[in-house]
Amino acid sequence: MQRVLIVAFGLVSLSTILLTACPSGTSGDGDGDGDGDGNRVADVLALTGDATNGADLYDTDCRVCHAPDGSGTASGANLQGLTESDEDLLGTIIDGEGNMPEWGGMYSDQELADVLAHIKTL
Ligand code: HEC
Repeated sequence: MQRVLIVAFGLVSLSTILLTACPSGTSGDGDGDGDGDGNRVADVLALTGDATNGADLYDTDCRVCHAPDGSGTASGANLQGLTESDEDLLGTIIDGEGNMPEWGGMYSDQELADVLAHIKTL
């Protein structure tokens, strides 16, 4: 009888370990879906963007469509001398628009602030 209990306990422990080891992180990735953007935009605008880091992000992720100097390509709009409000620009960056990919799920709030600071220098 004792042996059965020990085996049963072992099985319960094992399944607990397996369950805990399974990635439960999929639920943490839900901010790219466009929900709650008003809050996200406000969160980002509360931060101070670092344009130098933003330039690195831009080189990696944006340059291919928007050109190194932001003048645009056949695949991406001209970002020089932007006149839209920061809210509108962030809305486009977070949610995407047309062929513009959405970055809300890929970038942290700070990274969004950084890349915004950079594109405003173009
Ligand atoms: C696959 C190509 C592509 C990539 C990569 C890309 N964009 Fe875009 N972006 C576009 C296109 C196309 C538009 C125009 C969307 C529209 O108005 O339909 C656009 C529009 C924008 C706008 C709005 C411009 C305006 O005048 O309102 C901003 C801001 C912007 N992109 C920033 C970025 C940033 C920042 C990145 C990198 C994190 C990036 N884009 C990466 C294609 C791209």
